[in-house]
Amino acid sequence: MANLQINIAGVSFKNPVIAASGTYGFGREYDEAYDISQLGGISCKGTTLEKRDGNPPPRIAETPAGMLNSVGLQNPGVDYFLQRDLPFLQKKDLTVIANIAGSCERDYCEMAERLNDSAVQMIEMNISCPNVKSGGVAFGTSCKSVENITAAVRRHCKKPLIVKLSPNVTDIGEIAVAAESAGADAVSLINTITGMRIDIHTRRPVLRNNTGGLSGPAVFPVAVRMVNQVYNRVKIPVIGMGGISTWEDAVEMLLAGASALQVGAAMFRDPYAPLKIIDGLQAFMEQNGISSVSELTGGVQLW
Ligand code: SIN
Repeated sequence: MANLQINIAGVSFKNPVIAASGTYGFGREYDEAYDISQLGGISCKGTTLEKRDGNPPPRIAETPAGMLNSVGLQNPGVDYFLQRDLPFLQKKDLTVIANIAGSCERDYCEMAERLNDSAVQMIEMNISCPNVKSGGVAFGTSCKSVENITAAVRRHCKKPLIVKLSPNVTDIGEIAVAAESAGADAVSLINTITGMRIDIHTRRPVLRNNTGGLSGPAVFPVAVRMVNQVYNRVKIPVIGMGGISTWEDAVEMLLAGASALQVGAAMFRDPYAPLKIIDGLQAFMEQNGISSVSELTGGVQLW
């Protein structure tokens, strides 16, 4: 039987498939369709100190082979998360990652502190949301700001720390190096690529926020390239995401250098996508005599 178990910064996942933040809420709705314990982990919706209603609608639009979102970090706030969502997730057998966001460095540090004594197993620091006016991607696009905020959160955070990177940069490799040098235990990438669509009849952007983040199969080749670029620059584990829709995509992302995978937009078309990916990955490994999923990580043979 192929071993799908992986370990990221001392935290064990029974398989490498994690629900991507912002696409799975806190797991409740999907758990009505199937037992979410089948997943390796969940990265919860980006959570802030206070509840947020997010951006005004329309904030979702379909695009060829993808979607644009400008949700704006709608979430119930950390207190609600700790009191209502985390107890639900604790009853499930999957690794729980809290995705934290804020408007300033202090917010991120306080979020980390609020979660230090909770049952959350890892923290994913979101410095790559393209849809908020303050914070988010503003922290994620220069090496200096990535280094500063990672170092600050590191000082306050007792849990293993993942830094979620933005693709909206010139050299994602140097950004990943900055996160690693400031104390990140892992990096996850890619968050969405900033995009825009315009209604030709009204001449208005289709999203009320004008721009949004592009995800889905359209971004997959960009994500594979960036994961490989980062894998070749850092020693810490890379969690790959961006348009993974099938088990074949999952294998490709592992070969590019990912140690674990996050599946996001694919679940809007098919809520069972992560389960199909786990099954397909296992079958592929068994057919090819691969005993442990980590053997695939970084296995691409570049020309
Ligand atoms: C959002 O809530 O706007 C999306 C979150 C993100 O892109 O990080």
